Amino acid sequence: RNRLSLVKQRTFAMVKPDAVAHMGEILKAIQDHGFTVSRMKLTRLSEEGAAGFYEEHKGKHFFDPLMQFVTSGPVLALELVAENAVARWRELIGPTDSAKAREAAPDSLRARFGTNATLNAVHGSDSAEAAAREAAFFFPDSRSCRRPGLPTTACF
Ligand code: PPS
Repeated sequence: RNRLSLVKQRTFAMVKPDAVAHMGEILKAIQDHGFTVSRMKLTRLSEEGAAGFYEEHKGKHFFDPLMQFVTSGPVLALELVAENAVARWRELIGPTDSAKAREAAPDSLRARFGTNATLNAVHGSDSAEAAAREAAFFFPDSRSCRRPGLPTTACF
């Protein structure tokens, strides 16, 4: 068994419609911070898909604007692999509200590419369980591919 696979973790990331134009800079940051991209898909969320993905926020005051926003254009779905990937990706993206991120974490991706709490450029799973669920939502039928000595990646 590959020793690396014991310490690596996956997380799910999504570049939202307001930041897809900056995907090159965001992928550069992902690479510079030591994440491996194990699956990636440029796609669009349908209304049903968006409501399913954000089910936990149904009924909140921001749900309708959030639905409008995430269905307004393409999104880039990513599965990232690294040690402690969930926490490290949350750190790199910064606080939920991009306006606050610009004060608290000016180098974060939400500070750099987002606008406010809705138009906030990127998503990151808040737990390993959420990461598994969210990755399965966007990558339902891609088998994982294990190669000795290398991080697990998608099999195409
Ligand atoms: S909360 O309040 O704990 O449910 O917030 P959080 O878990 O960070 O996720 C909130 C997601 O909904 C999006 N959103 C907003 N959050 C707060 N306020 C407003 N007005 C709002 N509008 C949209 C926010 O961007 C989070 O999306 P994700 O994709 O999870 O980052």
